Amino acid sequence: MKDVYILGIESSCDETACAVVKNGTSVLSNVVFSQIDVHKVFGGVVPEIASRNHVEVVDVVVNQALQQANLTFDDVDAIAVTYGAGLVGALLVGVSYAKALAQSLNKPLIAVNHVEGHICSNYLSNPQLKPPFLCLLTSGGHTAIVRVEDYTTYTVLCSTADDAIGECFDKVARVLGLPYPGGVYVDQLAQKGKAVYPFKSVVLPNGNFSFSGIKTAVVNLVHNAQQKGEEIKKEDVSASFTKVAIDGLMKRLERELETSPIKTVAIAGGVAANSYLRQQVEKLQQKAINVCLPQLVYCGDNGAMIASQGYFQFVKGDFASLDLNACPTLRFRAKYEKKN
Ligand code: KG4
Ligand code: ZN
Repeated sequence: MKDVYILGIESSCDETACAVVKNGTSVLSNVVFSQIDVHKVFGGVVPEIASRNHVEVVDVVVNQALQQANLTFDDVDAIAVTYGAGLVGALLVGVSYAKALAQSLNKPLIAVNHVEGHICSNYLSNPQLKPPFLCLLTSGGHTAIVRVEDYTTYTVLCSTADDAIGECFDKVARVLGLPYPGGVYVDQLAQKGKAVYPFKSVVLPNGNFSFSGIKTAVVNLVHNAQQKGEEIKKEDVSASFTKVAIDGLMKRLERELETSPIKTVAIAGGVAANSYLRQQVEKLQQKAINVCLPQLVYCGDNGAMIASQGYFQFVKGDFASLDLNACPTLRFRAKYEKKN
């Protein structure tokens, strides 16, 4: 079969990103323009500012991705773009740009769900990985254990009943006075601390997750200490939160592995960069589980993961029309399996 080159565009939040990927797994270029410094002063992403920044750089980022891949628009087989979920104004920049490219170049347009892109980041780092496998999805907006049935079919086995784990990392960072987005800083502090605070498990009796309780517990712990003028070690709070949150995910994942015939595990989403999570998942190898971790560069938002999912949709002939619109509340296109 002829090689297929997909140009993937991602602009759902505060990263303007574009990549060229060959045959779904081979990354020829991956350009990520991060706006974090612009938003940091506000303690979070300001949607209007994000959209404006995407507009300013999208053209440059796309052209750089082509240049680095040593290709021209003629060589590209299709344009894949994130159309949801995310910030509507931010998504619209990528979607409009991709539509204009597809129309002017007369190439197919492929609409990619951001979450599915995150899962595909695993194929970029582990080209030998093939479905079925279980994926622990840990992003800013999602927390779930997903059975990846094939390259475009997903079943959610359990998920969070309230907040996502990434959101929770950011909230913990905020109450500890760390910069935004705080997950990475909590990770660094946790490595120097002791898990002395016994927060309650994040696994619910029905097998789903809940992060709102632990989030409130951390906030209360820090506020109470501040009110009493007591010193609290940020390192210990970070270590305690990280341990309880991640151990809960691992416990639930191991329970799933006990009954599943699938013995391959991958992780995805921004929190997949967490060092404690990666260590714990790697330990599954001792139980004869085949473990795949995405490289750090593919854990956060990037265009390569969108191009990868785009390739698998291309192969299936799953194309979008030029009516495509941004869908800020797009749900994970998955089946949900009820399980205790
Ligand atoms: O997957 P992502 O880009 O967001 C969504 O698509 O929703 O992930 C961003 C999240 C943020 O909450 C960020 O704090 C978190 O990933 N994150 C981390 C680490 N690096 C990024 N959380 C914990 N440890 C890290 N090392
Ligand atoms: Zn993301």
